[in-house]
Amino acid sequence: MKKPAQSVLPGHDLITERWSPRAVAEKPVPQNVLRSLFEAARWAPSCYNEQPWAYLVAAREDKDSFEKMLSVLVEFNANWAKGAPVLAIAAAELAFAKNNAPNRNAQYDTGAASALLSVEATARGLAVHQMAGFDQEKARQVFGIPAGWEPIAALAIGYPGDPASLPQPLKDRELAPRTRKPITEFVMAGHWGHTASFAMK
Ligand SMILES: Cc1cc2nc3c(=O)[nH]c(=O)nc-3n(C[C@H](O)[C@H](O)[C@H](O)COP(=O)(O)O)c2cc1C
Repeated sequence: MKKPAQSVLPGHDLITERWSPRAVAEKPVPQNVLRSLFEAARWAPSCYNEQPWAYLVAAREDKDSFEKMLSVLVEFNANWAKGAPVLAIAAAELAFAKNNAPNRNAQYDTGAASALLSVEATARGLAVHQMAGFDQEKARQVFGIPAGWEPIAALAIGYPGDPASLPQPLKDRELAPRTRKPITEFVMAGHWGHTASFAMK
């Protein structure tokens, strides 16, 4: 299923067509395709080119890792994400490698890497659904994530599936229109709270 953004202005297909489905097809993700997603993440910009991100990835075939991934998700997410062929956790290193000073952009940069990964996925007919709903401490324990690294978000990766495969409340959410604030609410100029003139029609 496609669910393009209903933009006021036309945008690039890669942006309008990216969305976060919960219905995911059983079809596995070929290894070269999976590699291309993380290659996209690799080329994200980052503060001082620190590249403070890391991903733990589990394909369904790797039963142990996949079960470990499911075990750290909150129940709501585990219930639908168990259908995805690939699950992952994005983590950020919170200090610069060169001097151990705090990197206040580490989470921001990791989000940028995941955003590029999602766009590459869209280009390849895949979908990525990110999740904050997982147990960070459990993820640390289960995967041995070291101190200094923060698990930020889980990701379900796969080919979009049939919404009919979802239980009713999730099916309704799957079929509901995608909504966003207008840009007038978050694009300012001159002073906080003053909408930029170009943002207004
Ligand atoms: C950091 C982050 C955390 C999210 N956490 C969850 C989650 O735990 N469970 C879930 O079902 N969706 C989660 N989402 C998906 C959002 O709800 C979704 O991106 C948003 O509603 C916009 O929909 P769209 O991505 O289809 O445009 C998360 C998305 C992001 C970026």
